[in-house]
Amino acid sequence: MTIKLEQLGKAVIDTQYAVRGPIVARAAELERAGKSIIYCNIGNPQALEQKPLTYIRQTLALLQYPELIQSAAGLFPADVVETAKALLAGSRHGMGAYSESKGVRIVREAVARFISERDGIEADPEAIYLTDGASKGVQAALRILIGAPNDGIMIPIPQYPLYSATITLFEGKQVNFYMDEGNDWRLSQTMLESSYKEATAQGVNVRAICVINPGNPTGSVMDWENIAMVIRFAKAHNLAILADEVYQENVYLAGDRFVSFAKVLTELGEKDVSLFSFHSCSKGYLGECGQRGGYMEIRNIPADVVAQILKLQSVSLCSNLTGQMTTYCLVNPPKPGQPSYKLFAEERDGILSELKQRAVILAEGLNKIPGVQCNKVAGAMYCFPRVTLPAGRTDAEYCMALLEETGICVVPGSGFGQVPGTAHFRTTILPPTYKMKQVVEKLAAFHVAYK
Ligand SMILES: Cc1ncc(COP(=O)(O)O)c(C=O)c1O
Repeated sequence: MTIKLEQLGKAVIDTQYAVRGPIVARAAELERAGKSIIYCNIGNPQALEQKPLTYIRQTLALLQYPELIQSAAGLFPADVVETAKALLAGSRHGMGAYSESKGVRIVREAVARFISERDGIEADPEAIYLTDGASKGVQAALRILIGAPNDGIMIPIPQYPLYSATITLFEGKQVNFYMDEGNDWRLSQTMLESSYKEATAQGVNVRAICVINPGNPTGSVMDWENIAMVIRFAKAHNLAILADEVYQENVYLAGDRFVSFAKVLTELGEKDVSLFSFHSCSKGYLGECGQRGGYMEIRNIPADVVAQILKLQSVSLCSNLTGQMTTYCLVNPPKPGQPSYKLFAEERDGILSELKQRAVILAEGLNKIPGVQCNKVAGAMYCFPRVTLPAGRTDAEYCMALLEETGICVVPGSGFGQVPGTAHFRTTILPPTYKMKQVVEKLAAFHVAYK
């Protein structure tokens, strides 16, 4: 007898992931039928014509096939060859062997140096776990934090559905707090307090707060003060913090800069708030989503809990070695003066300046459409415009009609959460600039005619 749907756990059935939901399935169907589709539904840069950085692929090529190192001398820059040799020596057994559960030590040391230099704070390689993308790190932290069905995790609304899906799967309670759309999606203490109060009044044992900075899907960037407010809030209510910082390189507005939770926590001298921070090879200017690299850094976590985290990581043996080595490249890019630097800098700056340009084209273009309102895209790779819909229409219907008529694939706001009575959609800024202009034009014509 085959397995039956009724045999599956309710948590599995209830888990939802809108970014790859029915609208995307329909897009694939239309594409097979010959329609041209512009995929604006997911932050997958290399699926939208972004090229990988040369130094990363050269390094990975040498790591995967060390025999090439002998002949690579005139072919690849000398610093790339040296890096590959050092990584192979550091991994001890090469790419085909399991590493320590936390990941190869030489890579974790490079991550710790990166954090130290980025933030001017100390970082410990032993507090770093290399993970298969940030997703696995977030799942590991939530697994640790959800101990009983009444344990609650505060998540921003709108949010990236990894959070809602994982909380459902681990049978915890999702505790929503709204981001302030009218104030460039800033986090407000009043909104945090009211969501906490409501959850505890319902008997939920709130354990942690998740923050995504820069924001997905909002495109917002937090400043030092706003981060400090969240840390003080967490301390007041004895909450751990999950800081999802995968878009830290994607900050577009002059005057804005990325500030990490680890930096603010350290500058506040805070030793009582547990922090899990996440970074990834999938975003920034790398866009190496398929390599599945990333890390989790932990702070202020007692040794007996750390032992449990390590135990859970060892159940999967280790994260994939290609991802680990891509993470090394993420945190240790070529330096000025090295032979690979010039091309690296050109490629990096080209990607970031295109993203910045598209962020402006999209937000300005959308704001010109009557009935569409969009905050500035200050960071990350998305915007989350608010749309006024004809009476009785839902955002899911709107997005499906947009797909059928224009071939543009976006995700309805309901997949990320929104204030009841409002409607949004999320689009990425990833299509190449010439297509981005078409997206804006087609969206405008569609929106005006939509009934
Ligand atoms: C906010 C956020 N966190 C985490 C991830 C997961 O990325 P990955 O697992 O590829 O590192 C994504 C992917 O889009 C994201 O947007």
